[in-house]
Amino acid sequence: MPRYHRLGNLPHKHHTQFRKPDGGLYTEQLFSTRGFSGPMSTLYHIHQPTEVGGWEDRGAINLSYLGDEPLRHRHLKTARLKPCGDAVSGRVLLMGNQDVTWSQAHIAEQMETYYKNAEGDECLFIHNGSGKLESLFGTISFHPGDYLVIPRGTIYKLVFDVLPVKMIALVSFGPIEIPKRYRNEYGQLLEHAPYTERDIRGPESLETHEAREATSVLIRARNRLTLYHYPYHPLDVVGWDGYVFPFAFSIHDFSPITGKLHMPPPIHQTFQGNGFVVCSFCPRMLDYHPDAIAIPYNHSNVDSDEVLYYVNDKYGARKGIEEGSITLHPLGIPHGPQPGAVEASLGATRTEELAVMVDTFHPFKLAAGSTGIEDPEYWKSWLTS
Ligand SMILES: [Fe+2]
Repeated sequence: MPRYHRLGNLPHKHHTQFRKPDGGLYTEQLFSTRGFSGPMSTLYHIHQPTEVGGWEDRGAINLSYLGDEPLRHRHLKTARLKPCGDAVSGRVLLMGNQDVTWSQAHIAEQMETYYKNAEGDECLFIHNGSGKLESLFGTISFHPGDYLVIPRGTIYKLVFDVLPVKMIALVSFGPIEIPKRYRNEYGQLLEHAPYTERDIRGPESLETHEAREATSVLIRARNRLTLYHYPYHPLDVVGWDGYVFPFAFSIHDFSPITGKLHMPPPIHQTFQGNGFVVCSFCPRMLDYHPDAIAIPYNHSNVDSDEVLYYVNDKYGARKGIEEGSITLHPLGIPHGPQPGAVEASLGATRTEELAVMVDTFHPFKLAAGSTGIEDPEYWKSWLTS
């Protein structure tokens, strides 16, 4: 989606004979995420990607939410989540709606099988780990602070250097894209955008598995998991090109836009989805008007829920949060700095905050995974006496 990319060997023209060293034909696959009119890539396989040895039903995915509760600000402490599972099975659904779900993972194990989410684009935020994303499109190294954006249908596995690792897993039922206002009519990132193409790291190498080694892939589709058994390794691509591929973008490569007076949240926008945005709050110089109040003013998010994940605990406008906290400020009531925060911020010239924000335009509903980690006293942090 961000640009044209290619790896490996390709025939000169689409849909022509492309032969292996032994004279046989490679198998072409068009990989599209929106019919024949959206972004596409074309891949060349050693084996037939349609050949399947068998499958096992792994059951329905539980996307149920808690009933509506009285309106209030919420605070979840994800540090209370114990390490468990792998980068897929260890995801704890915290909240979601018809557009996007937010799961938190404190990953304890390496993935044994490959995974394919066929019904949602994924945006994984790696809080504190490093490793490799191995995918159909090649390998990407990742580090703390990386967003990994993985288009639906991509077969992949995360291989971590050291465990446990903390990760946010957003699953979007629409596409996850670079905001339109950052791009020109050709898709190129404009000069005012807070990052450029150089910051987007597509697959850097292509490892082609030639042998017919039996390999399993856990496929998520139709709100169900099915374990597919292939008599060959599905990462058997010798070359591909196009606009669909996973990529990494580091929150540390986001170049914050600053101003004389306080800038509104959209300047922190990093990605857009259907019904939500993802923003990055990064270390930066603060507002430079001599009388500036450099932390957010109270605001009524009347048509969106605002969820913030604090990558560190240095968020000037908020009291009582810790590394790994999530605050949910729901639509319908204003929120802003707690008492004393404005006065405490006066004269500050710089912030070291690091946070990921998701604003949703349909209300986020909490899931059962949130119940054991909530700080029920959070709403009292705005009391003045
Ligand atoms: Fe806000």
